[in-house]
Amino acid sequence: MRDSYGRVATDLRVSLTDKCNLRCTYCMPPEGLDWLPKPELLTADEIVRLVAIGVERLGVTEVRYTGGEPLLRRELVDIVARTAALSPRPEVMLTTNGIGLARLAAPLAEAGLDRVNVSLDTLERDTFKRLAHRDRFDDVIAGLAAADAAGLRPVKVNTVLMRGINDHEAPALLRYCLKQGYELRFIEQMPLDAQHGWSRKDMVTADEILAMLKAEFDLRPDDPEERGSAPAERFLVDGGPERVGVIGSVTRPFCGACDRVRLTADGQVRNCLFAREESDLKTAMRDGAGDDELAARWIAAVATKLPGHGIDDPAFLQPARPMSAIGG
Ligand code: GTP
Ligand code: 5AD
Ligand code: SF4
Repeated sequence: MRDSYGRVATDLRVSLTDKCNLRCTYCMPPEGLDWLPKPELLTADEIVRLVAIGVERLGVTEVRYTGGEPLLRRELVDIVARTAALSPRPEVMLTTNGIGLARLAAPLAEAGLDRVNVSLDTLERDTFKRLAHRDRFDDVIAGLAAADAAGLRPVKVNTVLMRGINDHEAPALLRYCLKQGYELRFIEQMPLDAQHGWSRKDMVTADEILAMLKAEFDLRPDDPEERGSAPAERFLVDGGPERVGVIGSVTRPFCGACDRVRLTADGQVRNCLFAREESDLKTAMRDGAGDDELAARWIAAVATKLPGHGIDDPAFLQPARPMSAIGG
């Protein structure tokens, strides 16, 4: 699947549900959102059928399940097992908030999950409650430990820093992750929240994050050859081999190397987080389209991918779907 700028999509990110059991302020309001009605969601069989088309015909080599919160999807272990059984076997990964991972990490590893990325924005229970509007800090910490114990390594931790809320915690989070053996990545906040409350001046930038870390750690850029199409710019911490990543989506965009394509929980292909158009594979599939036709539609959807997210463009418009309905 090649776009008109020559980028090839090999990394498929599939949202399994738009629901979540947290309410992180950079994502959704405390009262939650109008969730997609159940009949609109792809069934497990429909998901596996589309993923199989991606892997077997369209060159997808990595499949990442996301949400909302993917652990809320009851058929997750089965979906992972059926994905890992595809040929050629893709790498199978999960991006989760960690709640429920204490129970599910071992069965997921058994089903063929390769690794997990877990969101953790704070080490302070009170700050967690304030930020996510739920008192679930201990569940996340237990989920991380279970993922590590189940061999879902390297366990990566995603942290969005917010000014005046958790931006004093950058060094403490890195110390914690180094101690636990998790790979930490700090993420610049993007305009993808349902409330449309993002502002550039509130965003903690990659430069600021690096300055805070450099006050306590020696950071050296990792070999750029190793980065490939990864969103994280990585740094060796105190000589390595441990690393920390910074995902500067806004101030250091990596759109030029993007190899991603997304499938939403209601079966729409999105060629970018910030895409303005979607391609409706669900309706085509439910109207009886065969695998050839679905593959052709998918190829056409990727072909029109824009060169970049355009956040700096004065005419930038936030996509209608929030992050929770696109998949991280
Ligand atoms: P690995 O590096 O392979 O472990 O995965 P990843 O970093 O792609 O996955 P993850 O789901 O953990 O995403 C981490 C963060 O990267 C997300 O929260 C986003 O902020 C950012 N990100 C992921 N995909 C994109 C993308 O297509 N565009 C932009 N701008 N940011 C993205
Ligand atoms: N900007 C940046 N990252 C975000 N995430 C959720 N919303 C945003 C946003 N507006 C992150 C979560 C999770 C990943 C899937 O995306 O923290 O780690
Ligand atoms: Fe849930 Fe993820 Fe959104 Fe937080 S960022 S509310 S964990 S979907």
